[in-house]
Amino acid sequence: MAAIPADAAAVTADGASRARHVAIIMDGNGRWATERGWPRLVGHRRGAERVKQLVKAAPDMGVEWLTLYAFSTENWKRSTAEVLGLMGIFARYIRREADAMAAEGVRMRFIGGRDRLDPALRDLFSWIEARTVGNRRLNLTVAINYGGRDELARAAARLAGRIARGEITHPTEADLAACLDTAGHPDPDLVIRTSGETRTSNFLPFQAAYAEYEFTPVLWPDFTPAHLAEILDRTSQRQRRFGGA
Ligand code: IPE
Ligand code: IPE
Ligand code: MG
Repeated sequence: MAAIPADAAAVTADGASRARHVAIIMDGNGRWATERGWPRLVGHRRGAERVKQLVKAAPDMGVEWLTLYAFSTENWKRSTAEVLGLMGIFARYIRREADAMAAEGVRMRFIGGRDRLDPALRDLFSWIEARTVGNRRLNLTVAINYGGRDELARAAARLAGRIARGEITHPTEADLAACLDTAGHPDPDLVIRTSGETRTSNFLPFQAAYAEYEFTPVLWPDFTPAHLAEILDRTSQRQRRFGGA
């Protein structure tokens, strides 16, 4: 009987496992800017630069899936200027990085509810998803207007539809997983949160049920590929038992 789910981290000869799917709660942009007396958006812009670096570096560390929390369903509470500024950063990232993602083999996808987003941004999401669909080196998934509870509520509605149509009679965990925004993604092996906060803030509650967690005090605009490499090396020593003996 298989002790470890097929989609779990690659198990090395010594029984330790290396994370293939890393999910990151990119936190601390505002504090990074405020500490310097700069507007919060400067921190968000620097944060986007860090994403570019990480996307380039992650595949060489054995990471095949990178899922990034960029904007939560709760982040609409921020000022209009900050929200619009962030949406502008997302749109620019997609346009400016499209060629680099093609060259680097990055498949880009988005999770989160799209209804509340500007139609032009929604179109950009669809455009880049279609354009990068054949890329295989890194699966980059960005969570925008994402909340785990909102995702579960939308998934429950989809599942109810399938049951009503008679496609499913006894729903299983896999049936629910297939209705989530992350359908087709393996579960994250490792979740990292920057900026010293030790909470998950509604990020992947279903998918990360068995993930390892790492909390680092480093603010996101200071988080480099070297920080990721250090965390991956250290956490690969952990034994994940998935409930087994
Ligand atoms: C994370 O940085 C980025 C988003 C949530 C959009 P924050 O903007 O939350 O930065 P802090 O937590 O205020 O420092
Ligand atoms: C979590 O950070 C969301 C993202 C990183 C996009 P927040 O800064 O919004 O979370 P809280 O408010 O500290 O829980
Ligand atoms: Mg924050």
